Amino acid sequence: MKLDILLGLQWGDEGKGKIVDVLAPDYNVICRFQGGPNAGHTLEFNNIKHVLHTIPSGVFRPESINIIGNGVVIDPVIFKKEIVALENMGVNIKKNLFISKRAHLILPSHRILDAASEASKGKTKIGSTLKGIGPTYMDKTGRNGIRVGDTTSPSFKEKYTNLTNKHKEILKQYDYDYNLEEYEASWFDGIETLKAFKLIESEHEINNYLLQGKTILAEGAQGTLLDIDFGSYPFVTSSNTICAGACTGLGIAPTKIGKVFGVFKAYCTRVGSGPFPTELEDEVGEQMRQQGHEFGATTGRPRRCGWLDIPALKYSVMINGVSNLIVTKADVLSNFKTIKVCTHYMLNGKPIDYMPYEINEPLVPVYKEMKGWEKDITKCKNFSELPKEFIEYLKYIEMEVKVPITIISVGPDREQTILN
Ligand code: GDP
Ligand code: IMO
Ligand code: MG
Repeated sequence: MKLDILLGLQWGDEGKGKIVDVLAPDYNVICRFQGGPNAGHTLEFNNIKHVLHTIPSGVFRPESINIIGNGVVIDPVIFKKEIVALENMGVNIKKNLFISKRAHLILPSHRILDAASEASKGKTKIGSTLKGIGPTYMDKTGRNGIRVGDTTSPSFKEKYTNLTNKHKEILKQYDYDYNLEEYEASWFDGIETLKAFKLIESEHEINNYLLQGKTILAEGAQGTLLDIDFGSYPFVTSSNTICAGACTGLGIAPTKIGKVFGVFKAYCTRVGSGPFPTELEDEVGEQMRQQGHEFGATTGRPRRCGWLDIPALKYSVMINGVSNLIVTKADVLSNFKTIKVCTHYMLNGKPIDYMPYEINEPLVPVYKEMKGWEKDITKCKNFSELPKEFIEYLKYIEMEVKVPITIISVGPDREQTILN
């Protein structure tokens, strides 16, 4: 068997959580492979809305096995909150959730370092979710990190103290007040919750599942344009959010990858700082924000909104080898008379049709205008019920990007999904 991957093609929040929940019944196993509680994946069904941060989005399907892979970074405090919320909803989480021993832990001092670093950057700040993601991945690559597997070692407390002391030294460079003790008790409490789960060597388990013929879906967090290598650096997250991240974040060989589902919104959003060529800082952008409820699932911050960016989408499809496109939130555009799509950019007076290295320079988007569908599509159940202008919009994207759109999401609920 091969492992399928689902990931975001824009700046995150494409609706990955919803789609993983929809696809989960087709898979035996759902795995998260990178990122951490900077992610906020929203699922809606039976009038319940639930946001997951660390836990894979297969968790509401009783038959699914859920694995937090080695590439993920875990904050035990947030993890515990997620577990308690799920248990309160009656989810039998202990049975179906497994955690890689190789996943790294976000320490209280990682969060403080994140906050101190952002505060020191002033206007050039990344707009981080302040969950400690950057400092934790820095300690991972700097070979100082503490892993889930360390929690059962007799020297765990000593490792914690040594790393925290290192962080205290670094924090002296910043003019930043903090109170570590306040957070430490709940952190150690969260560690106990974590230890009550099956801590596994997930690379063996996952490869064995494939050998046994089990189906696996890897769930990406963030989006391709936030990737540490291919995103709009330095306004990115600290992990590889792309397809290759599933190889390193789960221990899967490239030859074992099957389908790559790329999720994109029918327009674009971005939360945090950094370049955004098609951003609309006017009433049209405001209309998208209000109608799309574009406020962060993790931080509540308003998301920046803009038109669909075809060169950016093509870039993401290229980097990930996307085989199936999934479009979400087209219903949000139902009240727009005219829909615009960025076909290419002008850079220093010259047209370019690809996403360049110089995304930090002023790229001027050039738009094609299309007639809006101006119809409610949230109740459409089949492709044939969709308005012709919307189908034209989808066909145009397919023609440009050269990958078929196989799923169309027309609302936040599990049921509001059309399989094409
Ligand atoms: P993720 O991080 O990629 O999982 O996405 P988020 O959950 O952060 O943000 C997507 C938001 O859009 C959530 O509030 C979803 O409930 C919602 N959503 C997902 N798909 C659709 C859709 O097709 N239409 C509408 N209107 N909302 C959607
Ligand atoms: P999901 O999985 C949208 C953004 C932050 C910031 C930058 C770096 O829900 O799509 P970090 O906390 O990683 O240091 O922040 O990345 N960011 C996201 N934006 N969706 C996310 O996740 C994000 N995770 C991080 O806003 O600009
Ligand atoms: Mg999100």
